[in-house]
Amino acid sequence: MKAIQIDRFVTDLANISPKNVPSPKPQSPKALHIEITHAAITHVDLLYVQGLHQNNKRHVQPPFILGTEFSGIVTSAPPTSSLTPGTRVFGGGLGSFAEEICVDEAHVRRVPAQWTNAEACAVGASGAVSYGALVGVAQLKTGETVLVLGASGGLGVMAVQIAKALGARVVAVVGDAEKGEMVRGIGADAVVDYHDEGWEDKVRSFTLGKRGVEVVYDAIGAVESGLRSLKYRGRLVIVGFAARGGNMENVRANRILLKSAMVHGYRFGEDGRHDPQRTKDVWDGFMNLVDSGKIQPVIYKEEYRGLEAVPEALEDAKNHKAWGRAILRIDENAEKELQQHRAKL
Ligand SMILES: NC(=O)c1ccc[n+]([C@@H]2O[C@H](COP(=O)([O-])OP(=O)(O)OC[C@H]3O[C@@H](n4cnc5c(N)ncnc54)[C@H](OP(=O)(O)O)[C@@H]3O)[C@@H](O)[C@H]2O)c1
Repeated sequence: MKAIQIDRFVTDLANISPKNVPSPKPQSPKALHIEITHAAITHVDLLYVQGLHQNNKRHVQPPFILGTEFSGIVTSAPPTSSLTPGTRVFGGGLGSFAEEICVDEAHVRRVPAQWTNAEACAVGASGAVSYGALVGVAQLKTGETVLVLGASGGLGVMAVQIAKALGARVVAVVGDAEKGEMVRGIGADAVVDYHDEGWEDKVRSFTLGKRGVEVVYDAIGAVESGLRSLKYRGRLVIVGFAARGGNMENVRANRILLKSAMVHGYRFGEDGRHDPQRTKDVWDGFMNLVDSGKIQPVIYKEEYRGLEAVPEALEDAKNHKAWGRAILRIDENAEKELQQHRAKL
């Protein structure tokens, strides 16, 4: 099969290209074999290819196949699985920039009937990550105000919609007017541009008595700014560091004490390894919102066709061009053929 295999970390994204590698083999009795139709371009991929992610210190070392989120069609499954061959699925798994992947059943979900594979891929595992952070960790409630840092990104667009579905008010922080318009379109009540000096004051101006937001969802690594925007005794959940280029922020601990703030990290994959049931509950909670029609996939407008487009797509992500999820179309024909076949039955 063709795949983007990383034999050594790269600094110049133009140095990556697809090559022929052996097809993956199931590594456990619960593994599915899946033909990939679409893969998402995420911030994690951008870090993995350069060796800048914390996982590159141990778990993700060359050689490995790049890509972490995908959608596709099951081609073989264990006899006990409800995801029989022909089922459309989406989810997460290292090795998504490839024509085939093997992952355990727990890492994927059925594509909802109302979504194409491209749409499901745009949601990927990001919806579950944001749901776990906002509901499981920050315990966001109806009527509260949440600040979403990194609102225009793949995780952020999910966080905005989940917060609205919970009945919260959303202040979204983005990098330009086009992204501002996009997040308003998916429900953000107020938008702030992070290029504006003192943007944290602007965030507070949207809250009662300028006291600050009850919850901060931080996907960019701006904890001190988050604390400045937070109400006394507020909750801040750290989800990612998209603004830090691999260099972590040194947070002055007194800022946490002065606000009596609760600061909590959330690492979705690791959480699932510690407590698979908790992650299953997170997925179920998120899929309930999907089934009630409260979540819409947000696909970036550029088209990226085939594994050959990976360098360009990663470059666009690096240059802050993309918003929502940029989707790589690996084999759209497979999805179309399946739908035509079903229509004939
Ligand atoms: N905790 C977990 O389990 C988990 C799971 C998956 C991913 N993550 C992490 O979550 C983070 C977000 O991932 P993603 O896939 O949503 O990334 P993404 O789609 O690439 O989005 C990145 C977001 O960060 C914003 N951003 C980048 N630089 C910024 C800056 N200097 N100041 C303010 N905002 C900035 C971008 O806004 P502009 O484009 O406007 O600059 C964009 O909204 C990453 O760090 C990723 O590693 C965590």
